[in-house]
Amino acid sequence: MTTMLDLNRIRSQFPALSLQAAGQPAVFLDNPGGTQVTQSVIDAVTGYLATSNANRGGAFATAQRSDAVIADAHQAAADLLGAASPREIAFGPNMTTLTFSLSRALGRQLDPGDEIVVTRMDHDANITPWTMMAEDRGATVRWADFDVEDYTLDMGGLHNLINERTKIVAVGYASNALGTINDVKTICGWAREAGALSFVDAVQYVPHGPVDVQALGCDFLACSAYKFFGPHIGILYGRYDLLDQTRAYKVRPAHNYPPDKFETGTQNHEGIAGTLAAIEYLASLGRVADQDDNNRRGNLLRAMDAIEDYDRSLSAAILDELESIDGVRVHGITERSRLAERVSTVSFTWEGHSPRQIAEALGQQGIFVWDGNYYALAVTERLGVENSGGMVRVGAVHYNTIDEIKRLGAALRDLA
Ligand SMILES: Cc1ncc(COP(=O)(O)O)c(C=O)c1O
Repeated sequence: MTTMLDLNRIRSQFPALSLQAAGQPAVFLDNPGGTQVTQSVIDAVTGYLATSNANRGGAFATAQRSDAVIADAHQAAADLLGAASPREIAFGPNMTTLTFSLSRALGRQLDPGDEIVVTRMDHDANITPWTMMAEDRGATVRWADFDVEDYTLDMGGLHNLINERTKIVAVGYASNALGTINDVKTICGWAREAGALSFVDAVQYVPHGPVDVQALGCDFLACSAYKFFGPHIGILYGRYDLLDQTRAYKVRPAHNYPPDKFETGTQNHEGIAGTLAAIEYLASLGRVADQDDNNRRGNLLRAMDAIEDYDRSLSAAILDELESIDGVRVHGITERSRLAERVSTVSFTWEGHSPRQIAEALGQQGIFVWDGNYYALAVTERLGVENSGGMVRVGAVHYNTIDEIKRLGAALRDLA
């Protein structure tokens, strides 16, 4: 393992990681549902409220400080995602709300008989906004499936669904249930060749690896800061010309140019300040002594490469523990030679134990995991586990240690 991550230093920056639960240090493996935040994020949120709290565009100091922090946050999010300009970044309440609003705006361009493509591997936030829009517009929904043995998208089938009637292809970057990383670059290329728009849900991928929207060739991409160590904020990237051409649902005096026209109402300024701090934190992990401190994109790429590398060790450690227990079935890629195709989000079922019982037993030992469908309803239905409580989901991020994963394994073996 080659990593520049200093786990002790990293963990000391997250106050929640020293919480105790059930008389022991809490183990946060509920990260796909939301990550913990650094002290710098907490300070940025409270600091904004203490010193800059105002609406935007005013002729006075707090409004000007608000404008400055919001502008910097747009640039920081552009750096995180590899966007060409901060004007390609819109903040909003969360990914779901941004996707409903974008799907509604894009839907105006659809006619009856047009087609959209969604996948059964996606979180419902990247399905229902599109299927409801299609219903409103009389468009046809085409469903791409995944292989229930291999846990990968049926790429051939998906390619066959895309044709000259296709207008939008919505696909997830990494599954919040199976952990699979999809080849979104290829899929976005197919969409482009067919003259369709591509929308990537990167909520689960962003905390685990580097994103480059320009290299992916996607038209839109959404993520959520609370999944990458920031506050509860959603982020939408859109190619500038598309954001510019698309008629947004907005009120009249608000600016009619990107990204303002997609940032309806007063934004969560303190959350945006916290998001900036979260991105700065990630960039700090990639800072090396002889490198330019102002090269935030470069620092982010180095940090996310190191995180991706460590992520694979975490995946291997989780799989080692789960595979040591009789009757446990991992629903996801397990081959150690294919860890680059997954993030360290691992779901499993266990004969004789319901997912809720397992999560409760672990919770009583201070180990936090999720159970159920986590809104990946199409996945749990396709796997046939929806009516039996779904799956237990263990989701590690770069602040988790191999020792924590071993504690999870020991707790599960006790339960056996
Ligand atoms: C893959 C994925 N997409 C979308 C969402 C929804 O994100 P938000 O809560 O920001 O609406 C989630 C949340 O868990 C998710 O995991």
